[in-house]
Amino acid sequence: MIYLDHNASTPVRPEVADAMHQALTDLGANPSSPHRAGMQARAAIERAREQVAALVGARADEVVFVSGGTEGDHLAVIGAALARRDHGRIVAAAAIEHHAVHGAAELLEQFGWSHQSLPCDADGRTPVAAVHALPEGTTVVSLMFANNETGVLQPVTELAAAAHARGMLVHCDAVQGAGKVPVDAAALGVDYLVLSAHKFGGPKGTAAVIVRQGAPLAPLFRGSGHERGRRGGTENAAGIVGLGLAAEAAAREIATESVRIAGLRDAFERQVLAALPDAVVHGARVPRLPGTSQVSFPGARSDHMLMALDARGVCASAGAACHSGGVEPSAVLTAMGVSRELAICAIRFSFGRTTSADDVARAATLVPEAVAAVRQSGAVGARP
Ligand SMILES: Cc1ncc(COP(=O)(O)O)c(C=O)c1O
Repeated sequence: MIYLDHNASTPVRPEVADAMHQALTDLGANPSSPHRAGMQARAAIERAREQVAALVGARADEVVFVSGGTEGDHLAVIGAALARRDHGRIVAAAAIEHHAVHGAAELLEQFGWSHQSLPCDADGRTPVAAVHALPEGTTVVSLMFANNETGVLQPVTELAAAAHARGMLVHCDAVQGAGKVPVDAAALGVDYLVLSAHKFGGPKGTAAVIVRQGAPLAPLFRGSGHERGRRGGTENAAGIVGLGLAAEAAAREIATESVRIAGLRDAFERQVLAALPDAVVHGARVPRLPGTSQVSFPGARSDHMLMALDARGVCASAGAACHSGGVEPSAVLTAMGVSRELAICAIRFSFGRTTSADDVARAATLVPEAVAAVRQSGAVGARP
């Protein structure tokens, strides 16, 4: 099997799995309990808080542990909007945001907020002019760090500065960037930033929101003052230990791994384009995450391609929503102005820590084979 789906999720690092097993065995007490066993669990959590803070240029007391990137996006967007509800009831999000952000904005809509969408350019970047064009009364704007489909890096620093100049709070979904490329919450100048452990060798269901000092936040889960009152609920100590260790390992390797993985991705694209000159790499003209390659193969629909790749042992993702009987083009590619015909033929290959040069070389020969098979099968190609 050649696993090229690291943006969907990554294999847990062996040392993380070991540490989590140890934590499950040893840290049985409630981290809020004032006895010795509770304090042991608390100490492990506080160590992880430092490790996460160090990965993304934050202070340990700015780290709030949550159950995943999806919860983190909801906490940041809704928590900020509620905290600022007396100043206005408009939230804004880039058109290319993940469903987790759009979902939070849609929930706010049900409670009387309106939701503005910021367009992107043909390269998949949100322009600063889009922030200038937001209506008065916009209180929160959500701007992702790197897109999960194309990998395109966003001009977050410029966007955040423009939003702050207009008095808005800024959330940055850095779920795809953190652990893969340097992310610095302070340098980006955002108020909230989310990262998720399973995107960089940690466990699923554990994530963190960085709530920058002074940023207002209305907690969504109310409990007994956990996470300094920002997120109620007994902490998932083993998951948090895993997140912390994965963050520390990623920080240690980021400089070398990002270069190695970008080299693999570039070699893959070169070989695939040499064999299939009509293939289109989305976002190729601008800086992207090192390990992301979203490619459309004209005439080979994504759902058929995924099956043809899987039959050849290659795991990838469709850049389109597949459902029985058809595919819908991805909202990200549509926002970039990519035609429906091309968008429904998009496949996302994503490379990571466990990807080898041999994997890439083999995948680069299997992909053209899969494209040829789908095109020959007459599987309706580019027509929906
Ligand atoms: C950009 C982005 N935001 C948020 C999420 C949701 O994170 P989680 O899977 O931890 O809920 C994902 C997951 O794919 C993502 O890619």
